[in-house]
This record gives sequence, structure tokens and C-alpha cells, in this order.
Amino acid sequence: MNISGKTRYIGILGYPIGHSLSPAMQNKAFKFCEIDNVYLPLEVKPEDLSLVVKSLSKLNFDGFNVTAPHKVEIIKYLDEIDEFAKIIGAVNTVVIKEGKTKGYNTDGKGFLRALEENANIQVKGKKIFILGAGGAARSIAVTMAVNGAEKIYICNRTYEKAVKLSNMLNNNFTKICKPIPMEPVHMKKAIDESDILVNSTVVGMYPNVENSPIDKSLLHKDLVVYDIVYNPKKTKLLKDAEAIGCKTLSGLWMLVYQGAEAFEMWTGKKAPVKLMYDTVNEILK
Ligand code: ATR
Repeated sequence: MNISGKTRYIGILGYPIGHSLSPAMQNKAFKFCEIDNVYLPLEVKPEDLSLVVKSLSKLNFDGFNVTAPHKVEIIKYLDEIDEFAKIIGAVNTVVIKEGKTKGYNTDGKGFLRALEENANIQVKGKKIFILGAGGAARSIAVTMAVNGAEKIYICNRTYEKAVKLSNMLNNNFTKICKPIPMEPVHMKKAIDESDILVNSTVVGMYPNVENSPIDKSLLHKDLVVYDIVYNPKKTKLLKDAEAIGCKTLSGLWMLVYQGAEAFEMWTGKKAPVKLMYDTVNEILK
């Protein structure tokens, strides 16, 4: 990596930030595309967020990613928010142009591109069952609604949160969303009707690799099962789904595509998706 006075910087703001895979993935992509940018992990405490955002906009930074715990809080410190990120209520990517910051959310788009470009599945007309109702579920559900999903079921341990997310979607888009209590009889009926099942919870993530967010008996072979957990790459849910013949998709692809989308916003160039995937896959091994 050759750093000169002309080098431009991109950051990732989080707390803690030590185990983020994005610096390795983005720096590999910049190098491969011969772009004179460096991607820096920046550990930012919540109380310093405002000051850091202001400072980065005055320095030679073209933008930054935002990760936990700042994705919601960051909104009040940015000059402009993309409409889509506004509805989601969270920002994971910021572009800095002429000292002005604009926030976007590429999580849902990353999820969508992984489905379309990697698994060759179109969302239009599909029925989708989402486990979880947190920030990740919100980005995914909004993106699915915007892209023509026919039905979205939201199933969450805390039912009230599923109701709240469904209401938000039904108020902003066509009324396609329905909350589902996390009880087998209700889940079964909705899953039997669904084309795609998404786990947006952390259940199954390392080190709890023997856990699955859903009992295997509720799956059926015509489902596409998409787990946003990427460590491990093959979760218990994906193993169960594969065993009954479902098509599966690992969360590693969503991680890569949300990064690819951000890369394309900062550089205006097509992201080397395969290289980015190989980079994070190698680290996780
Ligand atoms: P993120 O931004 O990653 O989506 P989040 O907003 O904290 O994180 O949301 C976490 C989601 O995982 C929630 O839907 C949560 O369910 P609750 O709303 O009931 O808390 C879900 N979740 C976390 N641990 C879970 C568990 N052990 N079983 C089922 N759902 C779980």
C-alpha cells in the first residue's frame, strides 16, 4: 500500500471495531481496481460521534461506513439522508462531497443483490418470511417491499416488535405485511405459503453454532433459506435447510454486497465482488 499526499481515505466508525471484516475486504478491492484510497477502522465512542463526523468531513475522506452501535444515532449528525435510509431509520454508508455528508443504507440493497446476482432469484411476486424484527430485519423488509414482494411475514420473539415493523411497512407501502407470533402453528401456515425464509436474528452465530432460530420441521423443500449470519458460513439453519433440499444462501454474500454497493458509491467504479468474497471467506476460515 503506497500512501501519498494524494491518497483519499474511507473510514468505518464503530465501537468496538477490532473484528470488522470490512477493512480487509475494501482495501483489497481498492488495490485490485488501482484506486488510491485507504480504508481505515476507526474506533469511535458514542459520546465522540458528532465530533468525529464533523472532523472527517473537513479531512481528506470521501466517506465512511457506520456499524454498531452508531447506525441510528449517526442520522442526527449528517447533512442529508437518503429517502430510503430515512424510512429504514438507520445509516451504514456515508458519502462526503465538498464537505457535505449524505447517509445511505446499503444493507437491504446488499441483501437484494446477493439474492438477484448470486442466487438468481427475483423478489417481485415472492412471499417472504422474516425471522426477527430488529435493525437488519427493517432494512431487508423495506427493500423487499420496495422491490415488489407480494407478501412479507415478520415473525419475532417479541411479538410487539413484529407488529410495529409490520405497521410501519403497511403505512409506508402497500399493505403486504403481516406479523406472525413465534409459535409453530402460526409459523407453519405462513412458511408453507412462503418462497423465501430469512433469518435476520443473531441466533446460530459463533460461538452458539448449534442453535437455530427455527425448528427444522417447519421448513419445506421449495423454500430458499437465507441466513444473514455469516460466522459460521454454514449455520445450523442452513445445514437443516440443505438436508431437506432447500436452496440456501449464506450471510457472507450480504456482507460482501453491502460493501460492494458502498464501494461503488465512493468510487463510481464496479466493485470486484468475487475478490471481496474470497477475501472475507479466507479470513473466516
Ligand atoms: P440487528 O440490528 O442486528 O437486527 P437488533 O436490532 O438488536 O439487531 O435485533 C436483534 C433481533 O434478533 C431481534 O429481532 C431479536 O428479537 P427480540 O426483538 O425478541 O429481542 C432477535 N433475537 C435475538 N436473540 C434472539 C433469540 N435468542 N431468539 C430469538 N430471537 C432473537
